[in-house]
Amino acid sequence: MRATSQASSHGIRTVVVPAAGMGTRFLPATKTVPKELLPVIDTPGIELIAAEAAQAGAQRLAIITAPEKQEIMRHFGNFDELCATLAERGKTTQVEKVQRATNLIEAVSVVQEKPLGLGHAVGCAEAALDDDEDVVAVMLPDDLVLPNGAMEKMAQVRDELGGSVLCAYNVTPEEVFNYGVFDVEEIDGHFDGFSVKRVRGMVEKPAQEEAPSTLVAVGRYLLDRAVFDALRRITPGKGGELQLTDAIELMIQEGHPVHVVVHEGKRHDLGNPAGYIPANVDFGLHDKTYGPALYTAIKAIISEYEAENPQL
Ligand code: G1P
Repeated sequence: MRATSQASSHGIRTVVVPAAGMGTRFLPATKTVPKELLPVIDTPGIELIAAEAAQAGAQRLAIITAPEKQEIMRHFGNFDELCATLAERGKTTQVEKVQRATNLIEAVSVVQEKPLGLGHAVGCAEAALDDDEDVVAVMLPDDLVLPNGAMEKMAQVRDELGGSVLCAYNVTPEEVFNYGVFDVEEIDGHFDGFSVKRVRGMVEKPAQEEAPSTLVAVGRYLLDRAVFDALRRITPGKGGELQLTDAIELMIQEGHPVHVVVHEGKRHDLGNPAGYIPANVDFGLHDKTYGPALYTAIKAIISEYEAENPQL
């Protein structure tokens, strides 16, 4: 039986998860294993997203996959034989681990035939939404935004201010060229416990000198359904791809209200080894089973490394 969420869904029924990328930064692993199935300790990134989406009240994950990446969907399938074997051997905790993804949420596949960009990927999800779903929730599985709960705050802002709401994170000026960057202004009034700003504009991966701020988009979007119409009207942008950022910028220019919730917690980037490894160290250190031994091992590795590199 599917677990029902305690959270109010704020109308979020479907969460769109773009997962069609080639995972080039993880080759050779991603020759056969989709990046989204690489584990953080023992749980694939896509299952962490499924849990976050379920917590935000969603019932359905619309996973955008490339034609050759259908293994992602298998993760949400039934593994009756495996569960029966594990149960026979008394491994009930493992049975629960196997069944968790399926119990969290219904996953449906949307195939993006060609890698034409994040904007195009999100556009592919239109048919997966019910006709009366007026909000398009998007979670990028590369981004872990911790602790969970960003979407709930964003939904609260959308309930009060309308329009679309994104999640912003402050990075260093040297890092902005990797992200969609916001041009923001303060708003009157406040939300309890978190900061909200109005977005005047948004630009995809600008050079450091051209960036309007150091507040960047981190993988959580709560967009008005009008985004599908905007996505049909944009032309290829950064990298020759159809960019979600450009559709949001077009909506802003046309008077659509867009706000950001500034995330003050932690964030891991699972999209490349330099972010994936720290995520595993962080989750590992906090893991009841592996944490203590991992802590000792990491300290020893660091001491050895420092001895080899006295200049540090
Ligand atoms: C995408 C978006 C970018 C956003 C980033 C967050 O870029 O295009 O605006 O800031 O995700 O992780 P990507 O990392 O897919 O190149």
